[in-house]
Amino acid sequence: MSSELTAPADQGPRLGQPLPDELLDSGERLTREQLRELQLDRLRATLRHAYDNVEQYRRKFDEAGVKPDDCRGLEDLARFPFTTKADLRDTYPFGMFAVPMSEVRRIHASSGTTGRPTVVGYTENDLSMWADAVARSIRAAGGRPGHKVHISYGYGLFTGGLGAHCGAERAGCTVIPASGGMTARQVQIIRDFQPEIIMVTPSYMLTLLDEFERQGIDPRTSSLKVGIFGAEPWTEAMRREIEERMDIHAVDIYGLSEVMGPGVAQECVETKDGLHIWEDCFYPEVVDPLTGEVLPEGESGELVFTSLAKEALPIIRYRTRDLTRLLPGTARPAFRRMEKITGRSDDMIILRGVNVFPSQIEEVVLGVPGVAPHFQIQLTQRGRMDHMTVHIEARPGAGPDQREAAAKAITKGVKDSVGVSVEVHVVEPETLERSVGKIRRVRDLRQG
Ligand code: DLL
Repeated sequence: MSSELTAPADQGPRLGQPLPDELLDSGERLTREQLRELQLDRLRATLRHAYDNVEQYRRKFDEAGVKPDDCRGLEDLARFPFTTKADLRDTYPFGMFAVPMSEVRRIHASSGTTGRPTVVGYTENDLSMWADAVARSIRAAGGRPGHKVHISYGYGLFTGGLGAHCGAERAGCTVIPASGGMTARQVQIIRDFQPEIIMVTPSYMLTLLDEFERQGIDPRTSSLKVGIFGAEPWTEAMRREIEERMDIHAVDIYGLSEVMGPGVAQECVETKDGLHIWEDCFYPEVVDPLTGEVLPEGESGELVFTSLAKEALPIIRYRTRDLTRLLPGTARPAFRRMEKITGRSDDMIILRGVNVFPSQIEEVVLGVPGVAPHFQIQLTQRGRMDHMTVHIEARPGAGPDQREAAAKAITKGVKDSVGVSVEVHVVEPETLERSVGKIRRVRDLRQG
């Protein structure tokens, strides 16, 4: 079974294979024209469903002077108002649900950093559509019926664990529902149960990798062949780090609870060139984060999603805060791709007037020898100036000279590529907090 993921030796280690045509589902077989027709039908039905059944949508559409029937082409969507996290918070917990509670089969919630959680609901059809989307993602990553999938996304109100779980079952895989935490035991389970696939946040994958090494096991000897990583931003440098240390394919999965959960978009293993958006279910737009104006394909801005097939929580033009751009499809030509997310608009640090994303720091630190990929960014104030300090762990065995050279290289790398001055502290191995789920890279200690 795993041989499908393994190319002949002369083609390099474990090259990804395209999905054979017979394994494409009916949505993946649509032409771009057919897809656009389907999208318009579904969009019009979704706008109608939202307007008829959710007071918040009815009020906002009325205020904007638009009716569902005003949407005659996909471009008319731009006339409809945005939905934000505040809409979900204001109607906490179930006010945006468009079906009676008796039809809601499951609830998830995202904690967020402040205030009330946002609550999302799913009907039986919603859960089935979600499982199909995640199953499609797993196949695009190289998963096939009969593979074992180790899931270390957290189970519970977070959509990661259960979302991946139901999708892996739908894909005909055998699920190992490990959830997050108990890292030593996870490594043991991977060794004993021999999964081909792991689904986990990239930062927790690093924690697991360290644990393999701590137990004296070369992670490259594990049974794993593919990692499906998401729920937080990660860089190409992180992909290289994980692929080399683990000898696996590392591919990106994207999603958010308000739109569904994991499986809104997925990178294909054979191209690894950004994530194909499953556009038969989720309609993407990229807008200028300040003006809200829709940007042409290829331009960077904030990703906005409209659900096309959801019953319990239809979502219209949801402002994700995630920054990316849309590109034409490649491995799945009918579906457009989104570039790997560079960050969220609310993760952006403005340091002395320069915009900085944690991912830019990650890209630099992962290219420097002598330090581990564990780092934390601290923001403080010195007088009236903002100050950024990067704390990064030395690799075990790195001596004082190597640590000093690493600190210098990071300072210079950040200055050259991002344009800001940072202070770098190389700290002892295993002293920074480890991720068991989504990692928090930035500690903002500034006043106000
Ligand atoms: O994180 C759903 C998910 C679970 C996706 C497992 C992938 C894998 P939320 O907790 O609602 O849902 O957080 C959604 O996480 O708006 C992004 O900012 C970020 N995010 C999710 N996937 C990626 C990714 C889940 N592949 C928020 N790259 C989103 C970058 C991601 N950021």
